[in-house]
Parts: sequence; structure tokens; C-alpha cells
Amino acid sequence: MTDSATEEYDGGMLTLLQMVWGEGFLSPGGPQAVRDIMSGIDLGSKHILDIGCGLGGLDQVLLTLGAGRVTGIDVAPAIVERGQERIRRAGLNNRIEIKLVEPGPLPFPDASFDLVFGKDAWLHIPDKVAHFSEVLRVLKPGGRIAAGDWMKSPGPYSRDMDYFFEMEGLTYHLVTLAEYDTFLHEAGFVDIRLEDITELYRVEAHGELDRMKGELAPMIADELGAEGYAHFVEDWRSLTVVLDKGELRPARIWATKPA
Ligand SMILES: C[S@@+](CC[C@H](N)C(=O)[O-])C[C@H]1O[C@@H](n2cnc3c(N)ncnc32)[C@H](O)[C@@H]1O
Repeated sequence: MTDSATEEYDGGMLTLLQMVWGEGFLSPGGPQAVRDIMSGIDLGSKHILDIGCGLGGLDQVLLTLGAGRVTGIDVAPAIVERGQERIRRAGLNNRIEIKLVEPGPLPFPDASFDLVFGKDAWLHIPDKVAHFSEVLRVLKPGGRIAAGDWMKSPGPYSRDMDYFFEMEGLTYHLVTLAEYDTFLHEAGFVDIRLEDITELYRVEAHGELDRMKGELAPMIADELGAEGYAHFVEDWRSLTVVLDKGELRPARIWATKPA
């Protein structure tokens, strides 16, 4: 295994993230975030690859938006096992497949998918050009990327950012929006569009912190204990700091493989 986040999300983190973001969701925005990314895209019967699918909650949303089939891949064995169990329980095994993969080249033939999706997962991938080249390879000609990811402002990480990473206990490989655009170009994509949604999530994250200190507090403390509760409140506070400074920059991404 590489230094990728293969098994960095522990049970406590998975419990906390779903309390804040909803059952099956390990990133902000719930179903609406998927609808926003897919707005204006016809998913009718398309086969979608979700890279970094987590527990598969977003894949269920993709089906409700018209997708034909979703193949979700992830590198974390415990997450994949839970995701597969969720999909089995939902009776969606015939439409959603969640697979464990190794970080690196994608285990699919060329031109396998109509659309590649990812939500706040590619931030864990160190070599973006190699990643986008693989995405391009497995897309059919004219196929698209529609994704969400976290990026950063230019320059080295501040101490606030390093502290946020320390609180998270996760390995982040963030680049700027401009670098992201360049890497997509270098990999061969066209019609690239990046939308910076920092302000949107900045406001949401403050609301999430308020909920963690309010209505969610007893539930989090009950599940994770007083120490776990204190840790995650501090983690979220450190998240709001780097969002307020504009150093952490969530974005939406669209790009097309030439036909
Ligand atoms: C923040 S979670 C988001 C999960 C899911 N997309 C969601 O929004 O609920 C990031 C996910 O990326 C996965 N991941 C990390 N490195 C990866 C890689 N190289 N390839 C695929 N998945 C990866 C992690 O295991 C984790 O499940």
C-alpha cells in the first residue's frame, strides 16, 4: 500500500461524519450536493464510476437522478465492507457495485464508463495528473467528469492548516484551483470548469459546528465519549478557521474527454 488514506477513517470518525452529514455520507451537503454537481447533466441509463465512494450514500442519490448503474471504488477495506452491507440491505446490489481497489491505476478496461464522479475523495490522491490520466482512459470518448473536491489557496500551508490536518488525522494532498485546471488539461480533458464553493461551505461548516455544540452534542458524547466529543468539536473549529481564512477551498469540477 502507498501513503494513501487506505484505512485512515476510523470507526469514531465514520460515526461522527454520518451524524453531521447523514447516514451513508462522508462529505458535506448530503443529496443536494450531488444534485448540484449533476445539475444539467443527463444521467439517463449511464454507467457511472464513483472514485472514493465511501459508504455509497451518494451512489444511491445518483440512481435517483437517473443513472443506470454505479460502480463505486474505495481503498479502505472497512469502509468498503460497510458500504457493501448498506447497498445489500437497500436491495440495490444489481445497480450499485462497491469494490475494494488498490490506490493507483484503475482496474478497468479503456472506455468503460460514461461519467466519472467523485466527492471530496480525490484530495487524498497525491499524483493528480496520473489520476486524471487514468480517469480519461476509463471514460468513453465524450464522457465526463462531474465531481466535488477540496483545494487550497496558493502558497505553503499555514500553521492553522497543519493544525486542521493534525486534528483530522487524515493525509491530504491539496492543490490550488489553478493547478487542478492545469492538471486536467495535461491529462487531456477539455471544456474544464471549476466552481469555487468556499463561501457556501464556510457558512454550512459554522452551522455544523453549532449543531455539534447543540442538538448533536448528547448523541456524539454518547457514541464517542467525552474525549471523542471534545476532539471532534476542536476538529470542526479548526475546519472553520481555514475556511474563514479562505485557505481550504471546496470546489465543483466538470471536464470532458474529447469525442
Ligand atoms: C471524505 S471520504 C468521501 C467518501 C464519499 N465520496 C462521500 O462523499 O461520502 C473520502 C474517501 O476517499 C477514499 N479514498 C482515499 N484515497 C483513495 C484512492 N486513492 N482511491 C479511491 N478512494 C480513496 C477514502 O477511503 C474515503 O472513503
